[in-house]
Amino acid sequence: MTASLRCMRCGRDYEDDGRRVRCDCGGPLDVHFESLFEPGMVAGRPHDLWRYREALPVGDDIITMGEGCTPLLPVTFDGRRLLVKQEQLFPTGSYKDRGAAVLMTHLHELGVTRVVEDSSGNAGCAVAAYAAHAGIEADIYVPEDTSPAKTAQIEAYGASLHRIRGTREDTARAALNAIGSSAYASHVYNPWFLQGTKTFAYEVAEQLNWTAPDTLVLPAGNGTLLLGAYLGFVELARAGTVHHVPRIIAVQAARCAPLAAAFAAGLDEPVAIHPDSTVAEGIAIASPARGAQILAAVRATGGSFVTVGEEEILASLRDCCRQGWFIEPTSAAAIAGARTYARAAAPSQTIVTAFTGHGLKATDKVAGLVGSVEEEEVDHAGSNV
Ligand SMILES: Cc1ncc(COP(=O)(O)O)c(C=O)c1O
Ligand SMILES: [Zn+2]
Repeated sequence: MTASLRCMRCGRDYEDDGRRVRCDCGGPLDVHFESLFEPGMVAGRPHDLWRYREALPVGDDIITMGEGCTPLLPVTFDGRRLLVKQEQLFPTGSYKDRGAAVLMTHLHELGVTRVVEDSSGNAGCAVAAYAAHAGIEADIYVPEDTSPAKTAQIEAYGASLHRIRGTREDTARAALNAIGSSAYASHVYNPWFLQGTKTFAYEVAEQLNWTAPDTLVLPAGNGTLLLGAYLGFVELARAGTVHHVPRIIAVQAARCAPLAAAFAAGLDEPVAIHPDSTVAEGIAIASPARGAQILAAVRATGGSFVTVGEEEILASLRDCCRQGWFIEPTSAAAIAGARTYARAAAPSQTIVTAFTGHGLKATDKVAGLVGSVEEEEVDHAGSNV
């Protein structure tokens, strides 16, 4: 497959050796590649994300655990039907497996034997799992307060775990300093990750009989799902497979919203903020490296930003759990945003959103936040005897 790296800021091209992190001008890199995919090609292929292989710039020796083709299910909130992609059902429990599968396939092709990655947890889990599957060693850097289930998962895959004190940005710096002769398997900087997350768009389009929904409501921390979904729908629209790119509504936690603030102010770059801590740990990104790209993508689709408060996130977490959907708090932020958006949207609109991460990633937090009605009732009943 011929694909090169192209700077999003100055347009300079680079050949990819697995070692370049960004352009000499500081801009983020994207994969420059023309998809040859047509819908007729999927006939008879397995139900995983590799059924869109002509859209993926890698060869035949793929690193896969059967990931992809997550169900797109109607879920009703506030009397309104949303279509929710069940991304918590991936092998490692979050949508990050889309990116990790394609990125590790690419790095394996390049002959990489050791990778470094930094993450709030879930991308680290995904890279550690797919590295293990590919026989590649992994050093995963996470903030010290990352959920224990995620750190346990990373270590179980055999990766070396590094807990970093300080902010999420301190964790990223520690990983960058540790690259040495390894490849930087960053879900943020390495654009092959977005080549994987773009399959979200291909799956949604196929599940809607090769049409695009009116609106996508997606979380935006570093924007790896949002940018992938945008890229996928742009490719599908360019090929004439769908008629339009959906409007993208990006959701941020109100306590950490550098992009929503920039969008509201009409700015092209994220604004500097002093973030407060939020239960939505996965989207607590104060300085998103692809922030300008996220703002441009949302604007290009005629979309906007929604911010959600802690109470709203908790209410959505609880409502999801009480309907049987066990998701992690970060996932509930996107659902809270989708509900806010849906309340003001025309009833005829098709709105697609996602459960991005499994509740088993954060059982202690979910249990503490959602509580148990039954226990309260038993106590109450007991006191009446
Ligand atoms: C469960 C979950 N949802 C959403 C996100 C947000 O992804 P991004 O930071 O790429 O926007 C993350 C990131 O870690 C996550 O773990
Ligand atoms: Zn550049």
